[in-house]
This record gives sequence, structure tokens and C-alpha cells, in this order.
Amino acid sequence: MKILLLGSGGREHAIAWKIAQSQKVSALFVAPGNAGTAGMPLGGGSGKSENVALKADDFDGIKDFVLKNAIDMVVVGPEDPLVKGVYDYFKNDAELKQIPVIGPSKAGAVLEGSKDFAKGFMQRHGIPTAAYRSFNGTNIEEGIKFLETLQPPYVLKADGLCAGKGVLIIPTLEEAKKEFRGMLDGMFGEASATVVIEEFLSGIECSVFVLTDGENYKILPEAKDYKRIGEGDTGLNTGGMGSVSPVPFANEEWMKKVEERIVKPTIKGLKEEGIEYKGFIFLGLIKVDRDYAYAKAGDPVVIEYNVRMGDPETESVMLRIKSDLVDLLEGVAEGNLNQHTLEVDPRNVVCVMMVSGGYPQAYKKGFEITGIENVNGSVVFHAGTALKDGKVVTAGGRVIAVSSYGSSKDEALKKSFTEAAKIQFEGKYFRRDIGGDL
Ligand code: AMP
Ligand code: GLY
Repeated sequence: MKILLLGSGGREHAIAWKIAQSQKVSALFVAPGNAGTAGMPLGGGSGKSENVALKADDFDGIKDFVLKNAIDMVVVGPEDPLVKGVYDYFKNDAELKQIPVIGPSKAGAVLEGSKDFAKGFMQRHGIPTAAYRSFNGTNIEEGIKFLETLQPPYVLKADGLCAGKGVLIIPTLEEAKKEFRGMLDGMFGEASATVVIEEFLSGIECSVFVLTDGENYKILPEAKDYKRIGEGDTGLNTGGMGSVSPVPFANEEWMKKVEERIVKPTIKGLKEEGIEYKGFIFLGLIKVDRDYAYAKAGDPVVIEYNVRMGDPETESVMLRIKSDLVDLLEGVAEGNLNQHTLEVDPRNVVCVMMVSGGYPQAYKKGFEITGIENVNGSVVFHAGTALKDGKVVTAGGRVIAVSSYGSSKDEALKKSFTEAAKIQFEGKYFRRDIGGDL
């Protein structure tokens, strides 16, 4: 099978790494990919993976490439092409419609593309989520009154995609009112023309991933990511400084609640609303630490849906999937996922992300990265890297992830540090406490 994967980050390298191991894959292209996604040996033949100089949302360019190279399946990494409708582009094109796209339709991607839609969907299907209301330019004063009924801190969310920056959590009512008006006034452009105000949920977060063919589903290994730049979860938010899987509190009993109260009604709700969805669903969950109207202390509540895998969660999760991922993706494409098995590796995995000095604020790029070849027994995933004059150089804030197995979380973490220390680039920084709070 010839596969084209769209995207260029650590998540995509991790997905590509897993696809490359499949006996079923004879060609793997990554568009645009990074310095790590090219040259991986393929399990199903003598070939190697290749990068393609195409942007993940250049649909016409992708069409050309897919037809010229007889691609059998397209796997979508990031949300952007999904929200822009890559699934529908293929479905509605006479030459492309036979080629499965792993990812939801444009209507399904709205679960991530609009927080207002996602909240309404959860309410319609009885899925536990924070109490909320949505406001726009026509009912600003009502929004102010609604804020006055809530307890601090105040949660304000831009409705649309904001590259992870559209959520504000604000300690005082005065500030919340000001930021609320600012958001509606264009703080995040069109994305905050509608603002969701919701109840603050107190607890600990967990990311749960579901693979679905629209009818059947598999719950993939869960993970926890670490978003703050500083140790002890301090400082500015980043795209993610590391991840762990499994998450100890996501035990069998808790995951049963997730399945019954969240996964099943989500799949059923999509079907009832006629939304085509063949791909990954990322449930951003919180185990609340007190009672709410819709959940008891200890229960899972949904904070958000994403329509893709998480980054850097994928860099842990892929190591824990023992089964052939391509086989599972075929099940998604053919609508018989229930006839495929998901086998999970019981070991602990910890992913540590190495970032550029200064990130998430201003940082420099183009520094040479050395020592990757010395890493032994861990898996290295490139995130923001590029090839320049035959050398691997830094090309982003998050540069390289090191993921390791261990019989315990601590052992996996220790292994990731030992191996991360072998990789060098100017300004390298990483957190040493990933998973330490669990
Ligand atoms: P989102 O983009 O919706 O995932 O929000 C980004 C982050 O804000 C989440 O990962 C949470 O850490 C936090 N967050 C969002 N909504 C809430 C809420 N209702 N209560 C507490 N924290 C929240
Ligand atoms: N790790 C969170 C995300 O991918 O959105």
C-alpha cells in the first residue's frame, strides 16, 4: 500500500514511524515532512520514506501527487487541512473519490473548528462538559451579566481556531469583562467573533484518543501532556514539553466511564447528525476533583474535542500501539474496524521534548543538531528540524522529542534524559519533571 501522510511536526514523525513498520506499506510520502520523516526504512519492502515539497493544505498539488504516484491512502496529521475540507475534496472529486482519507469530513472537523458547535453537540447528546453560553456582537451585555453569575476564575474561549492561544483563564471579574469585550472586538480576529464563556473545572487533565470508522471504534492508549515551559508546570504555555502514557488515574473503572458517557454518545451523536467521521478523535478530558451538576468528583468531563491526534501525546502513544497501524487504518477506510485488533504495549512511555532557547517567546533557528546517531534504545522524533547543506538544523521552537519505554514511569523518564543528553544544539532546553505530578 502506498500512503501519503500530511503534516510536518513531531506528531507526524511519530505516525510515520509507526506506519513505516507495517508489513503492508510499500511507499510512504510525507508532505511536507521534516528532517526525520525522510529515509525511514519501510517494513513492506526495500524502499524508504520520502518527503514531498507540498503544503498540507495545497489540495490541488496533493491531487496531482496522489494521482501521479498511485497513492492508496491519505492520512491527515494536523487539523488545518481537515477544517479546510480535505476529506470532502477527495470525496467530491471523480478521480480521487476511491482513495480513502483518514480524518473527518469538514462537518466533523467543526468539532475542533468551532468551540460553540462542540459545546452544542455535547449538550445535544448528554455528554458531560462545563456549563456554558456563547455570545457575539449582538448580545455583549448579556455576556457581561452571565459572567457576573459565575465564580472565579473565568474561562473565555474564542470560538474558532487560534493555534492553541484562544483560551483565557482569568482570576478577576473586572479583568474577565475587559478581556471578553476585547475578544469580541477582534483580539483573535474572526476566530473570536463568537466567544464561549464557561464554568471553570478544577481537576487533572488527560488526553484520550479514539479511532473510528464512523460506526465502530477503538480506544487508543491515553496520555497526559505538559504544556508549560517551566518545571513544576510554571511559566508560559507551549505547544507541549513532553507526554506520558499510560496515565495512572485513567484506570479500568475511569476508562469505562469515559467509554460509556463520552465515547459512545460521541460516535452515536455523529451518526445521528449525519456527520461523516473516519479518523482520530482526541478527547481533552479532566478528572474533576469536586462535584458539578453534570459530574461527581472523580468523573471525566470533556474540556474539548480535537479532530486529530495530540502533539506531543502521539510521540508516546505510537510506542504503545503493538498492532499494525496500517491494518487499523484499513479498517477505518473499509468500515470494518471491529474486525481488526488493537493490541497495547503495557510498558510506560515518557516523551521529553527538546526546545530552542527562548521558546515560546522569540528564539533563533538554524543551529546544527548533533549526536542523534548516539541515541540508543530510545526513539527520536523530529518536530522542528530541517536539512541544510546535508546537516540537520533547528527549524522551530519545539525541535526534537525523545521517547523511551520503561517498566515504570520513572525508569522511562530517566532513560529519556540519558538519551536526550546525547543530542546537542545551541540553546537546547527541556523539562526534567515530565510525569512527575502523577
Ligand atoms: P482548550 O483549547 O479548550 O483545550 O483549552 C486549553 C486549556 O485551557 C485546556 O487544556 C485546559 O487546561 C484549560 N481549560 C479549558 N477549559 C477549561 C475549563 N472549563 N476549566 C478549566 N480549565 C480549562
Ligand atoms: N497536546 C495538545 C494538543 O495537541 O492539542
